[in-house]
Amino acid sequence: MNPHLQSSADSSRSSEEIRQDFLQFFQAKGHEAVPSASLVPEGDDTLLFTNAGMNQFKDVFLGTGQRPYSRAVDTQKCLRVSGKHNDLEEVGHDTYHHTFFEMLGNWSFGDYFKAEAIRWAWELLVERWGLAPERLYATVHEGDDDFGVSADAEAYDLWHAQTSLPEERILYEPSKENFWMMGDTGPCGPCSELHVDLRPPEARRETPGRELVNADHPQVMELWNLVFIQYNAHPDGSLEPLDDQHVDTGMGFERMVAVLQGEESTYDTDLFAPLLQAVADLSPRANIQGYDDLHIDDDDEREQVRIALRVVADHIRTIAFAISDGAMPSNEGRGYVIRRILRRAVRYGYQTLGLEEPFLHRLVDPLLEKMGGQFDGLTEQQEFIERAIQAEEESFLETLGTGIEFFERVVPHVTRFQKTDGEETDGLLGELQQDAQALDLLEKAYVDADDSGTVLHRFARTARGGALPGQIAFLLHDTYGFPIDLTRLMARERGLDVDMEGYETLMDRQQERARAASDFAVDQSSVHAWQPVSEGDASVFVGYDRDVVDDAEIRAVRGG
Ligand code: SER
Repeated sequence: MNPHLQSSADSSRSSEEIRQDFLQFFQAKGHEAVPSASLVPEGDDTLLFTNAGMNQFKDVFLGTGQRPYSRAVDTQKCLRVSGKHNDLEEVGHDTYHHTFFEMLGNWSFGDYFKAEAIRWAWELLVERWGLAPERLYATVHEGDDDFGVSADAEAYDLWHAQTSLPEERILYEPSKENFWMMGDTGPCGPCSELHVDLRPPEARRETPGRELVNADHPQVMELWNLVFIQYNAHPDGSLEPLDDQHVDTGMGFERMVAVLQGEESTYDTDLFAPLLQAVADLSPRANIQGYDDLHIDDDDEREQVRIALRVVADHIRTIAFAISDGAMPSNEGRGYVIRRILRRAVRYGYQTLGLEEPFLHRLVDPLLEKMGGQFDGLTEQQEFIERAIQAEEESFLETLGTGIEFFERVVPHVTRFQKTDGEETDGLLGELQQDAQALDLLEKAYVDADDSGTVLHRFARTARGGALPGQIAFLLHDTYGFPIDLTRLMARERGLDVDMEGYETLMDRQQERARAASDFAVDQSSVHAWQPVSEGDASVFVGYDRDVVDDAEIRAVRGG
């Protein structure tokens, strides 16, 4: 029996059943079941992606829009990868963050308020789903002088009066945790969260759960956020009370599934298991048979593989859902975020799982098998989503391998500077001097005309601070297509910063060059004047690295 469930709880429920159960529970209480909004917010330029269930109801909260119902229930597709709620770097490394997730919510638009929201949350979790009440904690807002808002004693009293929670399990928390804002402006208000403590009895006796609430403990986690929308936040930070009061709740669906299925991690649930298995099946490495079937003795290496499997399983959900909602990978805005996520998944697959051929698009099928029934339009777009992902994978993989080799080759030489503050430069450069391949590669990064001295010394000058030189970050970007965030991420994984100032300077210079180049008019009279004299092999452009070429062959001459 799962330790955190009462004997009445049924841990064999599938994620589909849990989702339906939530929707039906609130439908029975007069809520209209509404579809998830698109991940790409319509008509809201303040938001890159839908990051909470409330986004589609923002106008109702602000009093500028209306719905034909005053109570609603839904599951909302959410992405938290940028802006106020940014989880990307943690995803995969821990076992409970996700870029894409579903948020189950019940809504009141000027209808019921705190009393019902609290009572029903307890009824669903404890009476219907059988969570052990002694493992639950409620938090309420402690008030905030800067906002001019006092402690939410009303919510505190309601938890006490309407549930079996004793006072020591109702906690006052600061605005950082218990005042919900969608962004810097917009509808907002105090919130009350339900947390669950899933630790075994000994651990619970040793450290009371109340000390671990909001402390990033993987087994003491927030399940449900009940937001009491009462204000509109203005850009100057002031709060204006709204005419009507609303309820916006958000339950982390993946976490709830983990709890109800008696699993410690969301990745162990039926939402992720088929994806993790599919990635393991695609991996050509014989020692990777499944997420829990790894034949790897080294603990570190095994953990790296598990992280990579989690990254890929998480990211394919984001990529497929974003594309189905119209956010195609590209070089700017939303598309750039999706491109970064896709490249991160490809990189983990390539580096750790031996996946050197395009593989992500092959995960769309198992994903849709699991989710296609819930979200409109997904299954119909399968082929389109697969093709879009495959094309993007192919172009990135072409350059990725070479870029990673370059990075790996050069980083140990940078790290050496970090450890010693670079004081004994000559000693530090000794090993680099022996590394002809690294030197060759560095030649490419240090071609800039402003630099003087040998490559060795140019490198030493820029690596002295112990950060990855801007020249290297720039080359990775310019030649190997690495977004700067990817380079920073890889550097951070080695404990290195990136010299962003150096990188930006080179980027600016490149842009100036591009502008200057576009000022040249093409002389139409000469366009057809070149005469080929030899077809030969394909030629390569070497002008980035060299301005004199000794062994060049003449292939064409221009007449006239
Ligand atoms: N808006 C709140 C959240 O996203 C509750 O839905 O947590």
